Amino acid sequence: MKRLGILISGRGSNFEAIADSIEVGRLEAEIAIVISNNPHAKGLRTAKRRGFKAVCIRSRAIDREAYDRLVIEKLRQERVDLVCLAGFMRLLSAHFVNEYPRRILNIHPSLLPSFPGLEAQLQALEHGVKYTGCTVHFVDERLDAGPIIAQAVVRVRDSDSEDQLAARILEEEHRVYTEAVRLVLSGDFRIEGRRVLRTP
Ligand code: GRF
Repeated sequence: MKRLGILISGRGSNFEAIADSIEVGRLEAEIAIVISNNPHAKGLRTAKRRGFKAVCIRSRAIDREAYDRLVIEKLRQERVDLVCLAGFMRLLSAHFVNEYPRRILNIHPSLLPSFPGLEAQLQALEHGVKYTGCTVHFVDERLDAGPIIAQAVVRVRDSDSEDQLAARILEEEHRVYTEAVRLVLSGDFRIEGRRVLRTP
């Protein structure tokens, strides 16, 4: 069974969606460890309550690579095969990325490469796009970059507030993250340039 390491900083709903998918048999994997850089993350409490191994590794006042080394050590200890960033609000060092080549995924609440960075849903709303959505991609050391594994489209309604739009995007995030993890774990893909292509 492939072992997932999930990195969070806050609410943890994408972590929960992955946990739910595993529970109902939609995804064949196990969650080896949940790591939060933020001791107050709601997702950390949820993970513990649901019986997962969950730890906080605080990132405050520590150099990026030194921090990443601590996280890598934990991931290694737990024999993690695939790292899933789920609302983890930090850039990874090149060292981290090189330790898990093509084995780190991230989810972002826009159709990348549009609207990277913070408040992607608000950026989309204010830009006036009619469609936005979410993206799961491989992680490199740049922000919200790396080859795209899966996307889902969400229509922007004229009446949308930021929260309403974010809520509909989040529903798609929860669905699409599981799909992307499943594809990557299956190994049934190849990467050509930036393109992630399914192999039959
Ligand atoms: C999600 O919108 C995700 O796309 C972004 O951060 C948010 C995390 O939400 N990277 P949650 O912690 O998974 O509920």
